Amino acid sequence: MKTVICYYSRHHGNTLKVLEAMAEGQDVELIDVTAPRAAVHLERYDAVGFASGIYYGKFHDNVTSFARQYLPEGKDVFFIYTCGSKRDGYTKVIAEAVTAKRANILGEYGCRGYDTFGPFKLVGGIAKGHPNADELQKAREFFRSICK
Ligand SMILES: Cc1cc2nc3c(=O)[nH]c(=O)nc-3n(C[C@H](O)[C@H](O)[C@H](O)COP(=O)(O)O)c2cc1C
Repeated sequence: MKTVICYYSRHHGNTLKVLEAMAEGQDVELIDVTAPRAAVHLERYDAVGFASGIYYGKFHDNVTSFARQYLPEGKDVFFIYTCGSKRDGYTKVIAEAVTAKRANILGEYGCRGYDTFGPFKLVGGIAKGHPNADELQKAREFFRSICK
C-alpha cells in the first residue's frame, strides 16, 4: 500500500520523530506542509495520513488548510499527533475537514511529546523524554494495522 503522511512538526520535532519511526522500512512518503512545493498529488496514494503537534487544542492550521486544499474526495485517511498532555478531541477539526471531502477515517494515534510552551518552559517543560521507545513502537504497530 502506497502511503503519504502530510505533517507539521515544529516545536521540538516530536511528531516527526514518531513519523520517522513509523516509516522505517515502509512504503511511505513524508510531506512537510510548510516546505515549498510545485505540485501536490495526493490522488497517487492509497492512504493519506495527516500529522501534527497539537497547537491550542488542535492540529496546526497549516495541516488542516493543506487537507482542505489538496485532499481528493473519498480517500482513506488517518491521523498522528503528539501533545503535551493527553485529552480527547484533538482530531475534531482535522476530522471535520476530511469528512467534508467524504474521507474514510481509518484511525488515529497520539502520544505525548516534550512541551516547553509558555509557562511550562519555566519548570523545564512537561512530557520530557516523550515520545519514548514504547510510544514509537506503538506508533509502528498502529501504522502496520493501517496498512493491512
Ligand atoms: C504554541 C503551542 C501550543 C500548544 N498547545 C498545546 C495544547 O493545546 N495541548 C497540548 O497537549 N499540547 C500543546 N502544545 C505542546 C505540543 O503539542 C507538543 O509539545 C508537541 O509534541 C509538539 O509537536 P512537534 O514538536 O512535532 O511540533 C503546544 C505547544 C506550542 C508550542
